[in-house]
Amino acid sequence: MNVERDLHMTRGDGEHSYASNSRLQEKSILKTRPVLHKAVVAAAHACLSLSSGPGGAMVVADLGCSSGPNTLLVVSEVIKAVADCCRHEQQLAAGGQPQHVQFFLNDLPGNDFNLVFQSLELIRKLAAKDGLEEPLLPPYYVAGLPGSFYTRLFPDRTVHLFHSSYCLMWRSKVPDELAAGAVLNEGHMYIWETTPPAVVALYRTQFQEDLSLFLRLRHRELVTGGHMVLTLVGRKSKDVLRGELSYTWGLLAQALQSLLKEGRVEKEKLDSFNLPFYAPSLDEVRDVIARSQAFDVTHFQLFDSNWDPHDDDDDDDAEMKMEEEDAVQSGVNVAMSIRAAIGPLIARHFGEHILDDLFELYAKNVAVHLQKVKTRYPVIVVSLQAK
Ligand SMILES: C[S@@+](CC[C@H](N)C(=O)[O-])C[C@H]1O[C@@H](n2cnc3c(N)ncnc32)[C@H](O)[C@@H]1O
Repeated sequence: MNVERDLHMTRGDGEHSYASNSRLQEKSILKTRPVLHKAVVAAAHACLSLSSGPGGAMVVADLGCSSGPNTLLVVSEVIKAVADCCRHEQQLAAGGQPQHVQFFLNDLPGNDFNLVFQSLELIRKLAAKDGLEEPLLPPYYVAGLPGSFYTRLFPDRTVHLFHSSYCLMWRSKVPDELAAGAVLNEGHMYIWETTPPAVVALYRTQFQEDLSLFLRLRHRELVTGGHMVLTLVGRKSKDVLRGELSYTWGLLAQALQSLLKEGRVEKEKLDSFNLPFYAPSLDEVRDVIARSQAFDVTHFQLFDSNWDPHDDDDDDDAEMKMEEEDAVQSGVNVAMSIRAAIGPLIARHFGEHILDDLFELYAKNVAVHLQKVKTRYPVIVVSLQAK
């Protein structure tokens, strides 16, 4: 698997697309809005204090923007925060000019950038919902930026704010030893109860290398005092073999194993499918940030999110089980959400023809699991300021 080439969410705006199945990620963007707004205000101040005269645009980049309404929701949230900042603090650049905002929407080249560009009008509509019409909005410009965020994306010291939501659990590559073809994690695509410690270490090391590279690159690109808001799916369970995401992917591996028994998937294909993914604990994230010595942490938080994007019950009872009827519907909803994200990688490796049956089996596996324990995604939110 070549992550830069192969990884993308399901394109378009059809039934199985990411655009139509990203409510889970939308909820996270909405939940972290106050953190983003604070960072926008701080970044706007950094921009004003650094710019030598009128016309210095504030540069903002959303890394792993994907396609669909969430992409434009992030843009509109930033625009709204800049507008608020200008209004309340009369932070106008010299000459009474409003703060211009230059946006870069980044994702891997396979992302459906066309869909994003075709729906830019949504930015204004979302802002208007909050009473912010044209004269109140700062002038803004939107550009696409294809490329991996594990490479350089900008010249030195040119960006005021980076935002990235639901992306940094994706690795830059499958760890080399797994990608080389040895069967080290038989029948599984991610860390599972039976995964050997050596394989766990490979994933963990890949995560540490990727995140420290990401921080080094972004630090070069940020202006002094620039900000970064990062949200990623992580792990609460102390036992790495039973991490919450291990169940998400373990149940999908079990669905593939069922297809293997029916002779519809080859064993060699199953054993060679490894996800470029790692869900870190809070401490693992904190350690890499501390070792980078490049950022001050201004906010660190973990919240739980239901697997089912349409389940808005935020009761914190982690051991809660679901009734059968609810679990069956949730299984279907979870399968739609996971298919939108992982469908293209599965299709490339196993063939598109298995997708419908695979995710039907997966929905059933998820329903059975949720009746035993209503596992949730732990979501880590970090806000950083460049030293
Ligand atoms: C689950 S989506 C999240 C999209 C959007 N931020 C949201 O909140 O809805 C994860 C996105 O990260 C992108 N991604 C993963 N690894 C990446 C990388 N190395 N460079 C750029 N984008 C990446 C994927 O292509 C995908 O679009």
